[in-house]
Amino acid sequence: SDFTDYQAESATISQGVVDTKHAGYTGSGFVDYANVAGSYVEFTVSAAAAGQQALAFRYANGTTTNRPLDISVNGTVVARDFPGTGAWTTWQEVTVNATLNAGANVVRATAATANGGPNLDRLRV
Ligand code: GCU
Ligand code: CA
Repeated sequence: SDFTDYQAESATISQGVVDTKHAGYTGSGFVDYANVAGSYVEFTVSAAAAGQQALAFRYANGTTTNRPLDISVNGTVVARDFPGTGAWTTWQEVTVNATLNAGANVVRATAATANGGPNLDRLRV
C-alpha cells in the first residue's frame, strides 16, 4: 500500500506536550493533550490530487470514557469518538474519510470535552 505518516510529535501542538512514557508509539513519541476542551494537534497533509482519502488516527486512551476529537479538514469539522483502548500502552486507529484538496490541507484534531484528547501517536494518510 501507499501511505504517508504524519507524526503527532512533529505537528503543531496547542495545549499538549510530547511524551514517551507509554510504550508502543511510533516515531519518537506521542502527544499528551492537556485535559481541557480545545487542546489540539494540527497536521499539514499533502495530497497529489483532490479526492477522498482515509485519515487514520492512531491513539491510546487508558480510561473508560470516550475522548471525542473534532477532526477538521480545511475548517470543516467531523466529530469522531475515540473510545477507550483499555490501556495507555494499547494503541488503536480511528479512520475518518475526508475530501482533500490537491496540495496542502490543514487537518486539526481538537479535544471536544474537558477530558482533553486521547494520547495521539500519528496520522496515516
Ligand atoms: C495519565 C497518562 C497520560 C494521559 C493522562 C490523561 O496521566 O499517563 O499519558 O494523557 O492520564 O488522562 O489524559
Ligand atoms: Ca492527556
